[in-house]
Amino acid sequence: MSGPLRAALKTYRKFEHASWLPTGPGVVGSIDVGGYCLCMSLIAWAYELSELILAGTLPRRWMHVQGVARKAQVLAGVVGDDAPLLEAAAILHDVGYAPDLVRTGFHPLDGAYFLRSVDAPKRLVHLVAHHSCAIREARLRGIADKLVPFQDEEGPVRDALWTCDLTTTPDGEPTEFRDRVEEIKQRYGPRNLVTNFIEEATPDLSAAIGRTHTRLRQIGLS
Ligand SMILES: [Fe+2]
Repeated sequence: MSGPLRAALKTYRKFEHASWLPTGPGVVGSIDVGGYCLCMSLIAWAYELSELILAGTLPRRWMHVQGVARKAQVLAGVVGDDAPLLEAAAILHDVGYAPDLVRTGFHPLDGAYFLRSVDAPKRLVHLVAHHSCAIREARLRGIADKLVPFQDEEGPVRDALWTCDLTTTPDGEPTEFRDRVEEIKQRYGPRNLVTNFIEEATPDLSAAIGRTHTRLRQIGLS
């Protein structure tokens, strides 16, 4: 990790950008005083951290994750009180691509390792580790054992996160799932591991998107 990034991250650990908020869901912080904590909202923290990591070195990736986060806002109704968690995971899900954070070369895992190292909420770390059917690509890479410490929660938040990622282009624009899959296959080319992965994962990804749309219909938002 580069010196400037390491220095900037210390800022987050010190809560220098924090303010006094009531304790409760959707906030991160560790200093509790009479029902309040010196903390910042989980969403604000996540956006600032993601921008710090991605905007300068991977600007297209930064555009993508912002689009994924916008989709998370649209889907907030299907996850109830977990809406801040979903949006935070959306904006942070691809930080593992940042050159400074590469450890294994598998971005869901590298992102999770990094987020764990800066004391991100546990569910957020695990959602990033397993985002968009990461386990299937990990198996193809022969590193599935490294995902064992992280849990795939297999619920509405996980399904919504996969939906957000797989219906957003690399430039952050909304797209259809089938077009997104085609774009990935075109980008990586035939016989590439990622192309093999997306073909194998398509049924699981499609099922997650289907469940999310069902949940949207159940609350009258689709
Ligand atoms: Fe993504």
